[in-house]
Order: sequence, then C-alpha cells, then structure tokens
Amino acid sequence: MQKVIIFVHPWMWVVDAFEACCLHGYRIISVVTQFETQRIDADWLSEHSDHVIFSSGDAADDAKAISRWLSVENLACAFVVNGLDAAFGFADSLSRHLNNVPVQANNAALFLNKHRLNSHLHSCQIPVITGEEITHISQLSEKQSLFNAMGYPLIAKPSEDTAAMADVKVIKNEEALLNYVSHTLGKNNRYYADRKINSILIQKLIPHTSREYFIDYLSVGAKHILVGCGQYLYDKNRVLRGIDIYSVEQIDALAPALLYLQNVLDASGMINGFTHNEVFITADNEILLVECNPRHCGQPSSTLYKHVYGSHRMAVLLDVLDGYTDGESCQIKFSDQFAGAVHLYNHMTDYPDTLNVDGLPCEHEIISFRGAGQPTVPADFYTDQDRIGQISAIIALYADSVESLAQGRAFLKDRETEGTLFLRQSADRLT
Ligand SMILES: Nc1ncnc2c1ncn2[C@@H]1O[C@H](COP(=O)(O)OP(=O)(O)O)[C@@H](O)[C@H]1O
Ligand SMILES: [Mg+2]
Repeated sequence: MQKVIIFVHPWMWVVDAFEACCLHGYRIISVVTQFETQRIDADWLSEHSDHVIFSSGDAADDAKAISRWLSVENLACAFVVNGLDAAFGFADSLSRHLNNVPVQANNAALFLNKHRLNSHLHSCQIPVITGEEITHISQLSEKQSLFNAMGYPLIAKPSEDTAAMADVKVIKNEEALLNYVSHTLGKNNRYYADRKINSILIQKLIPHTSREYFIDYLSVGAKHILVGCGQYLYDKNRVLRGIDIYSVEQIDALAPALLYLQNVLDASGMINGFTHNEVFITADNEILLVECNPRHCGQPSSTLYKHVYGSHRMAVLLDVLDGYTDGESCQIKFSDQFAGAVHLYNHMTDYPDTLNVDGLPCEHEIISFRGAGQPTVPADFYTDQDRIGQISAIIALYADSVESLAQGRAFLKDRETEGTLFLRQSADRLT
C-alpha cells in the first residue's frame, strides 16, 4: 500500500521536502492550520499536494476527514511532519487520532512555551538560562526583585511562537522593561501578524562573547538522529550576518552541545519528528538552550543542508521509514561542498528593486530579496545591539572550500558597505 506523509502547516522549505517525498514514492497531504494565515501559500500547496485539508481547528475532525480520504484512495499514513511551532500540539493530536501514526511527544504542550520547557528542564537538572515569565503587567512590580537579582541588561522575548527574532529586545533598566512590556504584551507578533503575544519571557542576557548554533534532530521512536547543524554568524553589534553549515569534520567540536541537546530531547519527551534547536556555548564553555523548535528547520538552513549533506533532510526520514537505515545517531555525511548564507542589510537605497550580485565569486542563490516595499534600515541600526532588524536579502553561497566561501561573504559585505548592492533602477515610485 502506498504511504503518505502529512505535512502540518508546511512553508518555506517545502519545495525540496515535497520533491524528496515524490522521489521516495510517497504521497503528500498538506494541512493548512488556522494558527497563522499570512505566510502559508495555500494555492501552491493545493497545486503540489495530493490532498489539502483546511483544518477545522479540531484535530479529531481533521483526522476523520484524512482517514476518509486515505481509505478511498487505499493509502496509509506513515508520519506527520510539523512545520510551525504553534501547530505542534495539533500535529501531535492529529497523530494520536490517526491509526498507526507515531505520536510526536509525551507532552507536546511543553514545547509550546519557552518558559514552560525551560522550567521543566531545570527540574530535570538540565542547565537553562534563568528567566521569569510575565503574563500581566501587574506582575512586573511583583517580580522586580527577581529581575534586579538577574541583573540588567536582560533580554525580553515572547515566550510562545517562534518569532524569527521579532519582538526580542535587550532591556537595559527597569524603565525599559516597563516600556517593553506595556508595548508588547497583548499586541500582535511582528512576524506572525495574526498571533497575539500573551506572555513574555525575561531572561538573563547571555553575553556576546558566546557563540550560537542551530542543531537539527530527527527523533524516531525516542531515538534522536543528528541531521544538521551550523553556526549563526554575528558582527560586533550582535547583528546577524549569516549562517555557516557545519561539515562532518566541524561537528566534533560540538560534541558536548550534541549531548546536552539529546538530554534536552529525552527530558522533554520528544518521540517522533524534527526539532530545530538553538544553543549558546559561552566563553566558559557553558551550554545553554536558546529554544527548541518542534518542527522541520526553515530557510535558508533547509536548502543549505541539502547542498552540504547531499540530500534533503526529509530524505533521511523517508530512508528511516523505508528501513534503508536504522537511524544511526548521526546522519551528517561527508560531502565536498561548503555552504553558508549571508544576511544583508540595505542602509543606502530606499525601495531598491535590484540586487547587484554581478561578479560574485561563488555559486549562489538568492533566497530572499525584500526590495521595493522596504525603505533603508534606520541609521542607529548598526549601533543597536538588538538582533531584530530588517534583513533586506539572504543569499546562499556554495563553495568547495571554506576560503572561497569567506571570499564570497567579503565580496557581498563590501558591496553592501559601498552602497552598490541594493540599487533602485526604476524611476517609478512603487510605494
Ligand atoms: N537570553 C538570551 N541572551 C542573549 N541573546 C538571546 C537570549 N535569548 C535569545 N537571544 C537571541 O535572540 C534570538 C531570538 O531568540 P529566540 O528565543 O530564538 O526567539 P525566536 O523564536 O524569535 O527565534 C536568539 O537566536 C539569540 O540570538
Ligand atoms: Mg530562535
């Protein structure tokens, strides 16, 4: 009987994932949930999936609709892949309502709130960043002594929903904290514009001398398979300048972080599915969780992994399901490709319509370009240590050595600094 993968709220990385399913002979059901409505491309999904379910909001009802379709088509569902943090509870519930589909986690709700997960890990003796949650402005004064004890500067961020760095802020004093909470709590998330911020996590600020990594696992039957990792690259102002994907040789240095994350996944009861995890390694080699996203990785890491590791990470899951591999603990294979992404900031040209990459000495791919709709970033952008910013473009670079990758980065950085990268060629004002 032909097998089906159910994708819950897939986006961004989905083109390659669907291709991997087709190559492995799997059919595709996409579930468009109501958690978020602005970033999902329902038309594209309808065109490229075997079947699309527009979720009723009730996993039991959706499971019935899916089961009916599966039985008419004589198909069996093999796995649920979650694509959106907020949808993880739903994906788990859907798995539980469908026969023979692996459940995602012992307690999916743990993953839906960063503070809840951290508190749980702390109770399991796993080191986490000290933090407090605020769900109502009145709690600020109650908890003020705790914030003072943590010591400013602190960091404040929504405790629910991955926010792609939106609404994350360095807080320098009590007044700034009050200001942040009163302007953020109850407002819409700046990234997922139809999600409300109902709780704020206030944490110790991890110093900029730390390095930050993203590490992807695929859990199958509570066994955690490493499927990808890399490093976030920051400048001295903690502005995100890009990412580097780690090759198999580079991951040795991350062994303690990998062990830490396996403990995190075990302690939090992750059983089946992808997790996209972020950790700090401090100057004192302390390892601390930034967050655990219970979903497939997004862009650009998904595309870059495919280049560096030779296959899309979905293909690892399909190989495990097909019994081609017994899910060895590391699925990062040797390849002679290096890859990274460069995050670029337009501080020169209002509403650019062209990205001038002529002469770039690396194979490249433009992952995103926010042009005509966007003015230049504000003047204080480079001196403000907050990472939130308007990334104006992301370019993936592919090279056969670390050196030529670095050359490609330097080329783009120079052009960005000179103001010759983002250009406006059209005379029409488009805004
Ligand atoms: N406690 C902290 N100290 C320093 N930087 C932090 C801290 N928490 C988060 N950050 C920075 O903010 C970024 C976004 O935070 P994260 O929790 O990953 O939120 P998001 O859901 O938006 O990805 C992180 O990648 C990290 O660089
Ligand atoms: Mg994050």
